[in-house]
Amino acid sequence: MGHHDSQELDTQLVYLGRDPKRDLGSVNPPVHRTSTVIFPDYKTFRAYEDDNATHRGYGRYGSPTLDGLEEALIKLEGADRAIITASGLSAITTSLLAFLNAGDHVLIPDCMYSCARAFVVQELPRLGIEVEFYPPTIGADIEKLMKKNTKVVYTESPGSNTFEMQDLPALAKVAHAHGALLISDNTWATPLLQKPFDLGVDISIHSATKYIAGHSDLVMGAVTCKQEHFKTLNRAHRNIGAIPSGDNAYLALRGLRTMAVRLQKHQEHALKVAEWLQTVPEVKRVLYPALPTDPGHAIWKRDMTGASGLFGVELNTVTEEALGAMLDGLEYFGMGFSWGGYESLIVAYTPSRMRSVTEWGKDARFLRLHIGLESPKDLIADLDAGFQRLRTTMQKAA
Ligand SMILES: Cc1ncc(COP(=O)(O)O)c(C=O)c1O
Repeated sequence: MGHHDSQELDTQLVYLGRDPKRDLGSVNPPVHRTSTVIFPDYKTFRAYEDDNATHRGYGRYGSPTLDGLEEALIKLEGADRAIITASGLSAITTSLLAFLNAGDHVLIPDCMYSCARAFVVQELPRLGIEVEFYPPTIGADIEKLMKKNTKVVYTESPGSNTFEMQDLPALAKVAHAHGALLISDNTWATPLLQKPFDLGVDISIHSATKYIAGHSDLVMGAVTCKQEHFKTLNRAHRNIGAIPSGDNAYLALRGLRTMAVRLQKHQEHALKVAEWLQTVPEVKRVLYPALPTDPGHAIWKRDMTGASGLFGVELNTVTEEALGAMLDGLEYFGMGFSWGGYESLIVAYTPSRMRSVTEWGKDARFLRLHIGLESPKDLIADLDAGFQRLRTTMQKAA
């Protein structure tokens, strides 16, 4: 802290958010488990609601453990300020509630994370906020959808499940010309692989549950922003009160230390598995912006310095029974939600169920794979045996 001001990412990951001098020599900061925060005297007590008060007042307003995580994310992402939230979803909901008022219009990409989509569809309209979905690859043509009351253009790049890359600088230009904010879910890229504020993003959101924590042992979120937006964001955060425990903040900070090395492996392994999947006859296409054949590859190359380990595949015609035979026998791929942990995961999905303005085929079957740190050799062999089971089941039924 302070005395370590290297601009080198690898060094920053080791030093950010901790201070052994302050913490009695401990390499890692202590976990603060806090509700009540005792005031030192009556004068401080009287002043704690002042804007410049240094006393925190109450455990819901954070702790030194959360401060360490905030400091690290601010620096890594090139932001001025951050809030840490109880989940990635509450990072999204807090951000939207902070900047939207009754009578406003918000543009949402069709690829928005499904639970956030449920929030904008089920909660925002009853608060008098007009929600409109747009095709994620719209780029500068978003101009046509801008209204006088458009206050937020939301983005998620690449998109959940369908992995479209969004042209953030083009969207930012249009949004800003209309006085709207660009809010971006940057979870897939992590604070390491994309610098949202350089691309014109105003508010950057993370599910820290994924690569930041990195070990599938907690749920947490974060939002970073420039100073000018902090007051509004923090007002909503304090009023909503969705903060994580000190224990989880500690674990997330610990996860952060190894994020760069983990991501290198996730990318290396994911590319190998994705390239292999492109040779499987049952696979129609692989949705992974790091592949040169992906429609979003040029934007990915322009805006990101690497890829994480999550991607999708569209399957050719397949029966439920055959898909079940494939998935049930997998040895290394767990069937479960979330991603960004050290282990491989797989889920089946039908994108059309979560889309309203883009076409994905009513019954098209997709698999989402998170490629973990296991040997790609084992992962490919596991999937290969899975496709054999799928094939045999399909042939038996034919
Ligand atoms: C892209 C994206 N954003 C946000 C979230 C929500 O995060 P959380 O599960 O931490 O609430 C998720 C996944 O859960 C996600 O995949």
